[in-house]
Amino acid sequence: MSEVSTGDVIEFDYPLQGQSNFLTKLGESAWDGVGADEDIVAFNSQCTHAGCSVAGQVVPNENRAGPCPCHYTSFDISKGGLVNMGQATSDLPQIELDVEDGEIYATYVEGLVWGYHNNLRNGTPIEAVQSN
Ligand code: FES
Repeated sequence: MSEVSTGDVIEFDYPLQGQSNFLTKLGESAWDGVGADEDIVAFNSQCTHAGCSVAGQVVPNENRAGPCPCHYTSFDISKGGLVNMGQATSDLPQIELDVEDGEIYATYVEGLVWGYHNNLRNGTPIEAVQSN
């Protein structure tokens, strides 16, 4: 938690290696946000239209991921990844987070990662971290 500042965008894989996500601190409360201000959120990086990455298009101070570089879909990352505009017809999958002893943990994916009919199929899971 102490290493995340407003406006930061941090990429990580979850739940499988190679499933790219981003975490960001928006500076204002967000749906399912964690932290004192409930403003830290994470999402899968693959656009739900055709799988292009929106990780390089995250604008935390505008609560936005996008426009997607492929066909311009934009997602509201303060409201669960809702489609603001564009070709995609489903929300950007939110990575649900939990905080314990100052550490941020990914706990599950809200929705399907683009290209998967099962988020955990055909891949190597990220190793679970066990807290004491
Ligand atoms: S892949 Fe993102 S809008 Fe088409």
